[in-house]
Amino acid sequence: STTVERQEEGPLSIGGVDVVDLAGQLGTPLYVIDEADFRTRARAFRDAFAGWDVYYAGKAFITRALAGWVDEEGLFLDVCTEGELRTALEGGFDAARIGMHGNNKSVRELEMALRAGVGRIIVDSLDEIDRIETLCREHETRARVMVRVTPGVEAHTHEYIATAHEDQKFGFSIANGAAMVAMVRCHASPVIDLLGIHSHIGSQIFDTGGFEVAARRTMKLLTQFRQATGTVLPELDLGGGFGIAYTSQDSPSVPEALAADLREIVETEARAHQMPVPHTSIEPGRAIVGPAGTAIYTVGTVKPVDLDGGAQRVYVSVDGGMSDNIRPALYAAEYSATLANRVSDRGPVLCRVVGKHCEGGDILVRDEYLPADIRPGDLLAVPASGAYSRSMASNYNHVPRPPVIAVNGAEWSTLLRRETLDDLLALDQGPVVGDPR
Ligand code: LLP
Repeated sequence: STTVERQEEGPLSIGGVDVVDLAGQLGTPLYVIDEADFRTRARAFRDAFAGWDVYYAGKAFITRALAGWVDEEGLFLDVCTEGELRTALEGGFDAARIGMHGNNKSVRELEMALRAGVGRIIVDSLDEIDRIETLCREHETRARVMVRVTPGVEAHTHEYIATAHEDQKFGFSIANGAAMVAMVRCHASPVIDLLGIHSHIGSQIFDTGGFEVAARRTMKLLTQFRQATGTVLPELDLGGGFGIAYTSQDSPSVPEALAADLREIVETEARAHQMPVPHTSIEPGRAIVGPAGTAIYTVGTVKPVDLDGGAQRVYVSVDGGMSDNIRPALYAAEYSATLANRVSDRGPVLCRVVGKHCEGGDILVRDEYLPADIRPGDLLAVPASGAYSRSMASNYNHVPRPPVIAVNGAEWSTLLRRETLDDLLALDQGPVVGDPR
């Protein structure tokens, strides 16, 4: 795991680099990715799932350099916008190893994917299939396609990140026949090569039961497709969503155990349906980059408030918040925080780590015990911050977004520089032409 260590003098080090030095040079908030940890996790998935294809889900976090790591570790890559695709291509990623997602890809995005020669496009609507056919005719090319299906699974996770029940925007329903219609449509197309079907049941999932149901229903669908058309589709993608530990309460499986479970599930379902075992792929994002990232903040104010019953809670405000990590506000996601610049022998007190934004819901860590002498100027480290934090960051309250650096054995390099107020103001085109002044 990310090598966050307490040095003898007190400050934490991440991947061998002293946090106080980093904060001194780069300021805070700051996101630090342990490159070795990222690569180790990527490799662990690749090795555990040998024979399957592992697509790193770039939406969790991607930069050009990081796309290079993914490539070097032998993984495939999942992108879902022009921005992610361009980042990957500029990072030198081979288009043939990229899968393109999205429920509303624009014509421009599809055109870019086809021109680049992506390995597969995961289609999500009949409108999109029409667009792909038109583009293929225009460019005299063919498209390799997977059909995204909705297996009707209730994944045990937050509603906003569960994606396989019927009433949500992704995929073609298996239950109402829409999936079969889309598959037959692609199969009949003279310009589409239909590779197989794709299902992503949700995110931050710990229980493989949902994958089992998804595998059963997708295998059944592949059987029905064979009955209808005589064709065995070769590929199945089970999506991503493998949970990680945000706090000590979470206990995720290691890739080896996960791989053993998923292989067993796919083989059992194939056997039950008297079908060949499909060539299978998965798309982990969070499980690779999440634990490799740590957020560093500076404490600005410390304010005790009284709770009912006479207890107290200390509100510790830091220099970031919901603009760099929306997850607690959006999904009630839990994190932990540690004093990072020194050690303290003062007893722990109940704290809430909050951001600097003008909202009561701007909470980073709802309940955390920190030393009683926590004070302005201290640094806090929030682990497991590599996925869906900086990648979902906003400029709320005109706050520039933090940089992301990669540490590797006492060296560090910048993945994303800090945004500046000048960057933000450069977008502001006013006062408008014709201003009466
Ligand atoms: N494949 C597809 C088609 C996906 O939609 C996703 C995530 C993944 C793979 C990767 O899932 P992962 O292994 O990273 O869980 N912003 C939310 C998570 C949304 C995930 C969206 N799709 C969060 O912060 O929890």
